[in-house]
Amino acid sequence: MTMKPFLPFLTVGLFFLGACGLEKPPASLKFPDAKSDAAPVAAPAAAPATDVIPADPKLAAGKIVYDANCGACHEAGMMGAPKPGDVAAWAPRIAQGLDVMTKKSIDGFTGKAGVMPAKGGNASLTDIDVTNAVAFMADKSKGETPKTAAPAADPKLAGKTLYDANCASCHNSGMMGAPKPGDKAAWAPRIAQGNALLVSHSIKGFKGKLGMMPAKGGIATLTDEEVTTIVNYMVDTVK
Ligand code: HEC
Ligand code: HEC
Repeated sequence: MTMKPFLPFLTVGLFFLGACGLEKPPASLKFPDAKSDAAPVAAPAAAPATDVIPADPKLAAGKIVYDANCGACHEAGMMGAPKPGDVAAWAPRIAQGLDVMTKKSIDGFTGKAGVMPAKGGNASLTDIDVTNAVAFMADKSKGETPKTAAPAADPKLAGKTLYDANCASCHNSGMMGAPKPGDKAAWAPRIAQGNALLVSHSIKGFKGKLGMMPAKGGIATLTDEEVTTIVNYMVDTVK
């Protein structure tokens, strides 16, 4: 489901509009505009995550490598290949760290779901090609809502979405002493330290009396702002 099969369809659509709508030529001119106006609203639910071309040049380069070399298995979820945008499938993989995922993708590996061939089976790809493609796939699968729109519109919702994708694996169950959202007794002494320390512990990681909180929950691709948004959400659950 890349843009490629879609473009001929769009061209045919425009041709028909052009042919039928002679009395109203602006209608055919409007069509592409209306389409791109609608896209940002419809995209998160309807369009596959991989249809959007990323703004970051590294990720855009990764998308090109991905479309040509990796989509054959990953877009279909073939033999358990995790689909970009499938947050649940990617969360434990991303938690290993981007470096580990990248090295495994370059070398190839056999996991619980199946075999991921070295460089997706294309030996002519450089390590940088694969690095960019993995970064693109991970970025599509972080489970965040679009960075620009959502946090501004509703920071609590953004915090919850990011929490669910990146932190819930430990904090929902209270794994190794991770304080659960809503557990007032567990949070009271932590909140008493002050918000700044909570945020810095979450960004840099820390070892407490109960266990280890990894830096950014082990997800290095999260920005400091995103972690701050999540911590604010967690603190809000016990207010
Ligand atoms: C022949 C099918 C196939 C192709 C082509 C393919 N993959 Fe995979 N990939 C898989 C499968 C299957 C898995 C899951 C293996 C498992 O965990 O059991 C996987 C897993 C991965 C993972 C997760 C790694 C981890 O540590 O969990 C990454 C990242 C990845 N592939 C990147 C790529 C990239 C980048 C390309 C293109 C250069 C690519 N793949 C091409 C089949 C494929
Ligand atoms: C691998 C498990 C794990 C993941 C994933 C994880 N945490 Fe934690 N976290 C912990 C543990 C364990 C503690 C408690 C450590 C202690 O106090 O002994 C903790 C404590 C915290 C605290 C309290 C800090 C303090 O100063 O008392 C905050 C805030 C926090 N985590 C935020 C996050 C955020 C935000 C994420 C996601 C980006 C996250 N955590 C992901 C295990 C995890």
